[in-house]
Amino acid sequence: MSLLGLIGKKRRGLRLTDGDIGAFIKGVTAGALPDYQIAALLMAICFAGLDSDETLSLTLHMAHSGKTLDLSSLPGVKADKHSTGGVGDKTTLIVAPLAAACGLTVAKLSGRGLGHTGGTVDKLESVPGLQTALTTSQFLAVVQKTGVCVAAQSADLAPADRVLYELRDVTGTVESIPLIAASVMSKKLAAGADCILLDVKCGDGAFMKTPADAQTLADTMVSIGRGAGRSCRAIVSPMDTPLGHAVGNALEVTEAVEVLRGRGPADLIECCLELTEGLLALARERSGAAYPSARAKLADGSALRKLSEMLSAQGGDVSVLTRGFPPAPFIREVLSDKSGELARADAEAVGVAAGLLGAGRSRKGDPVDVSAGVLLRKKPGDAVTAGEPLYELHTSAEAALPAAEALLREHILIH
Ligand code: URA
Repeated sequence: MSLLGLIGKKRRGLRLTDGDIGAFIKGVTAGALPDYQIAALLMAICFAGLDSDETLSLTLHMAHSGKTLDLSSLPGVKADKHSTGGVGDKTTLIVAPLAAACGLTVAKLSGRGLGHTGGTVDKLESVPGLQTALTTSQFLAVVQKTGVCVAAQSADLAPADRVLYELRDVTGTVESIPLIAASVMSKKLAAGADCILLDVKCGDGAFMKTPADAQTLADTMVSIGRGAGRSCRAIVSPMDTPLGHAVGNALEVTEAVEVLRGRGPADLIECCLELTEGLLALARERSGAAYPSARAKLADGSALRKLSEMLSAQGGDVSVLTRGFPPAPFIREVLSDKSGELARADAEAVGVAAGLLGAGRSRKGDPVDVSAGVLLRKKPGDAVTAGEPLYELHTSAEAALPAAEALLREHILIH
């Protein structure tokens, strides 16, 4: 059937067959279809939806549209985690080495920041010398050596997703649960892990604004993962306020290292322990093996040693973990002008402010300022006294400070 035929079929609310979807993805990957027809089908999907068979079929064709990683040469249970995007979400920097310290094999591909949300690859690249653009054999060699590697996703993995995502971004077709689920899971399936733990963020700073939508996305992704023969589960975690205190690349690495040293903010620690325990439960179900508790491995310092081994194996200068990162040239401490309780620190606004300070990029390929970002000194629920520091703005661009401060004055509220 022609693409025009598929658009009509979906517009009338009919099911697409596996053959229809396979032909569509083949055409998308080959660059053989006009953008306006692809976008029309995506829009029809946004309105008419996809059932679970269609969603699985779309995901599998997207996952096989390019290279897939074969992790079978690696020992043990291969584990991966994915977060649907948040502000201050540095969980991968903690969960990946922690899960490896507990005995899992963690082979993870990550992305760069998108919009107001940060990306793990940008955070990792704050470490001087660290390489994230690894070939498959370099990636596998790091995992063989240390049990864990976090590298950048290469362009030849699920290339159909890249084409579709770029079109969705400019045609108002991002917000469709089956399309988001297929997009995320196609990359996870192509990356080859046995066990996939999904962290679906929910709240003002996330794609999913309501608990009901977040749960539907979580259920859809888990059903795809299981349908593809992987062990998969999801947690839904809040994203109304940033996770932890630090937002911005080097600031977040510093905070992650604090957690691995047994300190750091309680919300971040608990989220990381829940994610790691979730991965260990999946691995236990799959292999029947016993694993130590994540809390014990966090407490005994072995997760910090794992992070250090992984960063060194990827060429990073790990002395920065003890020495600290060079501070941003301009740091402004903003004080509270009244006493009360911090009622709100809006995640999206903090993410946008960090972006204005240089932590994010407005166009693909732009450089990021590794030292830039926002450090919250108070979190919702904390008591505040007039004159106390509320947050710090870090940047290399002094001119960016007033706009970032004005935005946060509007969105960090004391009652
Ligand atoms: N992240 C993805 O990878 N894909 C989406 O569609 C949305 C978020």
